[in-house]
This record gives sequence, C-alpha cells and structure tokens, in this order.
Amino acid sequence: MTSANLLTTIQGIPKAELHLHIEGSFEPELMFEIAKRNDVSLDFDSVDAIKEAYKFNNLQEFLDIYYTGAQVLIHEQDFFDLTWAYLTKVHSQNVVHVEIFFDPQTHTERGIPFDVVITGIYKALQRAKEELNISFKLIMSYLRHLSEAEAFKTLEASLPFKEWIDGVGLDSSEVGNPPSKFARVFKASADEGYKLVAHAGEEGPAAYIWEALDLLNVVRIDHGNRCLDDQALVDRLRAEQIPLTLCPLSNVELKVIQHMEDHPLPKLLDQGILATIHSDDPAYFGGYMNENYYATAKALNLNNQQLEQVAVNAFKASWLDDASKEEHINAVKHYFKHLT
Ligand code: ADE
Ligand code: ZN
Repeated sequence: MTSANLLTTIQGIPKAELHLHIEGSFEPELMFEIAKRNDVSLDFDSVDAIKEAYKFNNLQEFLDIYYTGAQVLIHEQDFFDLTWAYLTKVHSQNVVHVEIFFDPQTHTERGIPFDVVITGIYKALQRAKEELNISFKLIMSYLRHLSEAEAFKTLEASLPFKEWIDGVGLDSSEVGNPPSKFARVFKASADEGYKLVAHAGEEGPAAYIWEALDLLNVVRIDHGNRCLDDQALVDRLRAEQIPLTLCPLSNVELKVIQHMEDHPLPKLLDQGILATIHSDDPAYFGGYMNENYYATAKALNLNNQQLEQVAVNAFKASWLDDASKEEHINAVKHYFKHLT
C-alpha cells in the first residue's frame, strides 16, 4: 500500500482511544497561551524551544517535563481548553469514543482544588458528546511515585464527583513503585464502584503485570509490553482476554523499544492477545491516534486484517455497553469490507 493510501485507510477507521493522559495532550502553543494569560513563566522562550526539549532517554526524563508543563494549568477554563483542544483534534481523526486519564495529584499537590480540575475536563467531555458525538469515560489515575496515603486522600476527594468518574488507574514512575504498593487503595476504589486499570510492564518487569492482575484486580493493562518475557503470563492474558492498551510512538520516544520495527504488537496479535493502539501523551510523542496507527502499520507492514483487528479490539476492550460495542464493531467491519 502507498503511504497516501495507508493514511486514507487509517483516517477512515472509526477508532476508540483508551490510553490517553489529558495532560499529555498539552500542545506547546496552548501551553504558551495559557501561561501568558495566567501570568506564569515557562522555562522556554518559544514553542520551538519547548519542542526541542522533547527528547527523552526514559520515562522519568519525560515525566519531569510533563509535570512541569502541567503547572500552567490553574483555572477551570484551562482544564476545559486543554480537553476541548484534544477532543476537537481527535474528532478530526475519526475517533468516536475516548476513555481518558487525568492525574488529579499533579494539580492538587500545587494547591489547585480537585473540583476545578475535574469540572473543566468534564464540561469539555460533555460538550464533545453533544456537539461532536464522541462518547467518553473518565479515569482518575493515582501517581505511583507518591504514597498510598496520598492516593487514599485522592480517592476521598473524588467521591463527590463519583458520577463523573468511571475508573481509576495507576501511572507515573513505574520501576520501584510496584502495583502491590496500591493494593489497598485499589480495593477501596473498587468498593466505591470504580473500574480498575493500571500501567504495568512499560519499563517495569512482567512481575508487575502479574501484580496488577492478582493484587489490584485490574480489567485492563496499560502498555504491558513486557508480558512477552513470560509465556505463562501471555497465556493468562490470552485466556482471560485482558486487554493491553499499547502506545507505539510513546514506546519509541521513551526508549522502551529501540525501533518501531521491534514493536511487539504483531507478536501479541499472533498470540491471540487483545492488543490495541493508543497515543498516551500525543503532544510529547509526535502523534495522536492516526499517527500511532500509521507509524506502526508502516514499520511493521500491518495488513488491513491486522488493522481491522486492532480497531475492533479497542471497542471490545472499552467500557461501552454491549449494544454500543456491537454497533461500533459492526461499523469497523463494514468499513473494511467496503474498502477498495
Ligand atoms: N503518565 C503520563 N504518561 C505516562 C506513561 N507513559 N507512563 C507512566 N505514566 C505516565
Ligand atoms: Zn500512559
């Protein structure tokens, strides 16, 4: 397939985004604009200087910059603008359903109230549902470099907004912060009715994926690349059809893999794993959903059948109700059937 044809094919696929940190969609242009109106100084003189700094050797180098960027977000309007910019962008890429993460502690630690953060994000999601026909779920992530006690405080702060929050996740610095550290707060979160997911096996070992399954009881694993180190784990993920939300451009940018050609996606699909493609932190890693699909398909020579599988998998892995899943999956299948 030519590059132009591949791009056109990808553009037309109805897509679900299940692994996106809203703070990671903060484009430098918007960062500058919000910094200016909030009278906050940035460490960079220009949009180009910011982009120049986006070269990472590992997850931590990225996180340091990502948390700094998020510091310009202060008012409800800032969180609304951030989220709305993301939603209009992915609408243009034919993303029809999103399940997005936000990191409340990145903001509450700086004195920004929980309600300011979530209200801005939620209003943008509601508007996108009404005006862009994008359905959504919202996932609150605990920062794993902080303590269990801090996560419990965040759970407490979220309770008045329970109706707006569908699940909890676990992100930030993985190595040295195993899922077991958060077993009790995940149990308490489940008792409040939240669904559970966790980042595991991005930089951390396969053992962290086992822990996320056995100690946290998650229904999806974010990343999970490292499962291939452990065949018994792969067998379990396949048997239980536990989704892995993969983020190929993120993996290359954070040196989780050295080259896109090495990405485990085809191996995982071959083994019957419910693998999906997502964007993680698109403003930092060079692309949204289409760019992730494109880079992966190009480097790994994915055929239409594999692209269809990945798109279907994302709706299967979503938290939509069964009727909506079926509708979207039928739309994907119809799209591929009628491709010329
Ligand atoms: N927070 C934002 N992006 C992340 C990633 N790729 N891994 C862990 N935490 C994150
Ligand atoms: Zn992530």
